[in-house]
Amino acid sequence: GAAAPTGLNPVGGGGMLGLGLLGAGPLAGITPHQQQLLAAAQLAGGGVVDAGLAAQARLSKLNAAAPEVDSATLEKISEVAMQFFIERVPTDEQMREREAVCSKLHQAVVNEFPSARLQLFGSSGNNFCGKNSDLDLCLIVPEEVVYSDQGGGRGGNRRNMGRRETEKRRQQDRKKLMGKFVLRIADVMRRKGMEELTELPHARVPIVKFKTRDEQGHLVDCDVCINNYLACLNTELLFTYSHVDWRLRPMVYCVKHWIKQRQINDPYKGYLSSYTYTLMCIQFLQQCTPPVLPCLQEILRSEAVRRGDPMLRFRNTYDCYFYRDIERLKGFGNANTESIGVLLLKFFRFYAHFDKKKLVVCIRRGKPLTKKDKGWEKAMQRNRHVFCIEDPFDTDVDLGRNADENTVNDIQQEFERAFKMLSETGDLVKVMESYDTEREGAAPLPPKPADDADDHDHDHDHGPPTDEGETPPITPEGGEPPEQWATGSVEVDVPGVSLPADIQILDPSR
Ligand code: GTP
Ligand code: MG
Repeated sequence: GAAAPTGLNPVGGGGMLGLGLLGAGPLAGITPHQQQLLAAAQLAGGGVVDAGLAAQARLSKLNAAAPEVDSATLEKISEVAMQFFIERVPTDEQMREREAVCSKLHQAVVNEFPSARLQLFGSSGNNFCGKNSDLDLCLIVPEEVVYSDQGGGRGGNRRNMGRRETEKRRQQDRKKLMGKFVLRIADVMRRKGMEELTELPHARVPIVKFKTRDEQGHLVDCDVCINNYLACLNTELLFTYSHVDWRLRPMVYCVKHWIKQRQINDPYKGYLSSYTYTLMCIQFLQQCTPPVLPCLQEILRSEAVRRGDPMLRFRNTYDCYFYRDIERLKGFGNANTESIGVLLLKFFRFYAHFDKKKLVVCIRRGKPLTKKDKGWEKAMQRNRHVFCIEDPFDTDVDLGRNADENTVNDIQQEFERAFKMLSETGDLVKVMESYDTEREGAAPLPPKPADDADDHDHDHDHGPPTDEGETPPITPEGGEPPEQWATGSVEVDVPGVSLPADIQILDPSR
C-alpha cells in the first residue's frame, strides 16, 4: 500500500490525472477509439487480474442478462459517454490551478494555526470532479485548539447532573465552541481577501463558504469544514475505487450530470447527494457478474483483524478499514468485458428494478443488505428509510434519510425513463437532457421540501451528526447495527499537536 501521510493533500488532484497507471494490455469492454481517447486523458486502468480477490456474494436476480439492445446502439452509448467524460475531466493545468488555490489557503490557515493542515475532500479529492466542481476542504486541527474554552462553554456546577445530562451539556458546549472556531476561520479568510464569504457555524457540519480566485483570475467556490474525518476517509475510499477499474469514472461523471439535469440531486429538497449516487454506482459495479469492482472493505479483512489494524476501531468508534493496495487491485474487473454503454444501461435498469422496499444499498458489504438486517424497516425518528443507502463508515446513517415517498418516486421514474430511452434509442444525450428543457411549456415543478428532514435548515448535508447521543458499537464483521439512529459524534482526542496517522491519504504517485 502506498499510503502516506501528507500535509496539504490534493488526494486525487494534480498529478493524479497523469499518473500513468494505464496498463499495457487491452482494457475490458473498450473499443480502439475509446482506448485512444482514454490514453489521451491518461486514465487509470489495466493491469493484472488477481482472481483471488474476486470472491463476492451477489444477488443474481438483480443482475439479469444484458438487455436486448443491438451492438450499434450500445456502441453509440459508449462513444457518447466517453466523449462526455473526457470533456468534463479537468485538465492537468486545471488541477494544478486547484492545487495552487489549496496551497494558498493552506498557507493562510497555517500562519494563524501552525498545528493545522488543510485536506481536500469531496469530488476534488476523490477523482470524480468536473471542471467547475467546488473545492471541499477540511481543516484538520488538534481538538484542544478547537475546544479550548474561550468563554464559549457554560461550565457551571454539574455536580447535581446525571451522567446523561452532563454528556449532553458537554456535547452542546463542544458544538458551541466548534461554531466559534468556524467564525475564527472565517475571520482569517476574510482578512485574506476571500470573496462572498458566508459562515454557517450552526449547521450540522459547521462550515465557511467563500470564493477565491485562481491564478487565471477565475472564481473558485470553496467550503471549509473542521475535523470532518469521516468525509476525508470516504473521499479516500472513493478515490481508491476510482483506480480499480477505469469504467467507474466515466460512469460516475455521466450519472452526476444526469442527476443534476434531471433535478434529483438536491438533498435539501429530499433527493440524494452526488456522494450517494456515487456509492450507488459502486454498488452496481460490485454486484455485476463478473464483478467490475471488489468490496474494498472486505478484502483481507480477517488479516487486518488478526494484526489489529487500528483502522478497525478508528477513533475508538468507527470501523474504517479498507484495502488500499491499488497496485494489487489493478485489473480486478477485467474478467468483465462489458462496455461503458452496457454498464450504464444495466445501471439504470438495476435501480429501476431495485427492491427499495426490502433492500439497502451497501458498498461496505459489496451487495445490498436487507432493511430487516439493518433494522431499517420502519421510519425512525427523522429517518424515513424509504430508499436506503448505507454510509460505508458511518453505518448507522441512511444517506437516503431525507427522501420521502414522493422524491423516491421521482427518482424511480427517472431511472425508468433513462433505461427505457437508452434501450430504445441509445440516445444518451437525450437521457441527460435537462428536466426543464424537456418540460418546456409545461407547468414548473412544484418544490418538494423535505419538511421535517433533519438537515433542511442546514446548509451542508454531510459528515457525521454532531449532536448529542451515544456512539454505536463497532461491528468489525459488519454485524447488526444497533436499532437507534446514529447520533454519535466522532470522538476525537488528538494528543498534543501531533496528529495520529489516521488520515493517511493515498497517493500512489509517490
Ligand atoms: P460535486 O460537488 O457535485 O462534484 O460532488 P461531491 O463529490 O463533492 O459530492 P457532495 O457534494 O455530495 O459531497 C462532498 C463530500 O462530502 C463527499 O465526497 C463526502 O466525502 C462528503 N459527504 C457528503 N455527504 C455525506 C454524508 O451524508 N455523510 C458523510 N459522512 N460524508 C458525506
Ligand atoms: Mg463538492
